[in-house]
Formats: sequence, C-alpha cells, structure tokens
Amino acid sequence: MASPAHPKRQDWRDTAVAAANAAAQFITHEAMSRHTLTWEEKSATDFVSRVDVGAEERIRDMITARIPGIRMVGEELSADAHPEQGLVAIVDPLDGTTNFLHGFPNYGVSICIALDGVPQAAVVHDVARGGVLHATAGDGAFVNSSRLRVSTTTSPARALIGTGIPFKDVSQADLYLRQLRRLMPIISGVRRAGSAALDLSDVARGRFDGFWELFLNPWDLAAGVLLVREAGGRVTDLEGHEAPLTRGPIVASNGILHDWFLGMLNEGEVSAPYPP
Ligand code: IPD
Ligand code: CA
Ligand code: CA
Repeated sequence: MASPAHPKRQDWRDTAVAAANAAAQFITHEAMSRHTLTWEEKSATDFVSRVDVGAEERIRDMITARIPGIRMVGEELSADAHPEQGLVAIVDPLDGTTNFLHGFPNYGVSICIALDGVPQAAVVHDVARGGVLHATAGDGAFVNSSRLRVSTTTSPARALIGTGIPFKDVSQADLYLRQLRRLMPIISGVRRAGSAALDLSDVARGRFDGFWELFLNPWDLAAGVLLVREAGGRVTDLEGHEAPLTRGPIVASNGILHDWFLGMLNEGEVSAPYPP
C-alpha cells in the first residue's frame, strides 16, 4: 500500500536541495567551457557528456552520505534501479542536456525522494533561468520561499501548453502529430522548451496551463509530479490514472483543464495506442 507523508520529508527536501545546489554550481561552471566537451552518443540523437555524469556523482555522494539506506535511481549511474521500491532518490542530474550542449538556456537538476512509489520531497533547480523549486508531500510547493500555484485558466482558447516532441522513438510520431493537430487550432500556443522537469515546473508555476509528453523516464518526471500536485494541479497518464513514478506518458495541467485536455489527447484514438 502507498505510504503517507513521512515525518522526515523536510530533512529529505533539505538534503535534495543541497545536492541540487552542488550539481547546479558544477553545471554552471562547466557551461563556461561547453565548447570543449565531448558529446557521447547514448543513441543517434541522444547525447551525454562528463557534465551529466559529474553532476550525478556529486548528487549521489551527498544524498547517500546524509540519508542512510537510500537507493539511487539516477539517469547516468543507476538507471536500472526500481523507482517504486523502498526509499529512493530519483535523479536527473542534467535535464535538458541537448539545450546545455547548445548553450540554449533551459536546463536544470531534478531530484525526488520517494518512499514505496510515493513522492515525499522534490527539487527542480532551474540552473539556466534561475530559481530553486521545491516541495514536500502535503506542505505545498515553493520557488525559493514563495508559494507556487498553478494557473487559473479555464478557457482552452487561453491555454499555453508545453510539450515534448518524440525524438528517440519515432514510432510515436503519428499519434503525437494527431494530438498536436487536434490541439493547435483551439489553444493559445504550444511550447517545446527541451526539459521535461522544467516544463512540469512551469505548470506548477502557472506559466503553462498544461504539459504532455508520450514517453518520459522516472528521472524526467518524478520531482515535477510532486511540484505540480503540491501547487494544486493534476498529473496523470493518458488514461487519467494518477501518474506513477515509472516510465511512460504524462499529462499535467492546472486541474481545471485536465478532463478537457485528456479528452483532446484521446479523441478518436483506438484503445491502448500508447507505449507500454
Ligand atoms: C530529456 C528532456 C526533454 C524530453 C526528453 C528527455 P535529458 O531529458 O527532458 O525535454 O523531451 O524526453 O529525455 O535527456 O535532457 O535528460
Ligand atoms: Ca531528462
Ligand atoms: Ca538528463
């Protein structure tokens, strides 16, 4: 059964914030010499550099030293670890690697401490644009010390929607383009900024009224899920179930627009067209 909010969640949040700060400092320093970095290929269109790995090492070392017994689920160093068993730190040391490598200022650090699949504490450090977003279960979400609230937009015509365009698994392209085509004429705009953790943060901040992406990994979404929930929004899969911390599609919104948004994404689709 899912565990409730844990009494140590604020200590865990403080540790996650400290680890994210250390990683952010490293990333900011390395950004000055990004032209010298070697791009390693994870796949033909997916890159990583020593900055992603170095940031994750710093986060891992600090978190495991300060939280006894915690397991790491980190994109670069422990990607196969299970995100929904026991006490884990789900870590994307650099979300928006492509942006970072190009000098496009939209990348960050994402850390979620979860217990048995329930997010307890989260931080998204918005390295390039500034701001440390954090939340603990049941206590609200904040940027620095200011409370975060999702938007109050009620009209789809006024909605600004964030998204991630499929680029690794193009088998999703047709479904994605059908969804985009249905939304385009009736919303105010679509943005593809290149960091899912920051996209979710932007829903929590009330900048985006919604966000969807057909495939994300646990480290892309875990911290953002807690931020959006604690800011008063909703995060689900495409069928409307509360978002798990496993890989898959994600739909986030200010809550008010959620049923409409799910309806638009699913309209006319045959059952279960989604990636496993
Ligand atoms: C990626 C970013 C991007 C999303 C991809 C992710 P990375 O993470 O979040 O916005 O579209 O699905 O893989 O590789 O930069 O950590
Ligand atoms: Ca990522
Ligand atoms: Ca990453």
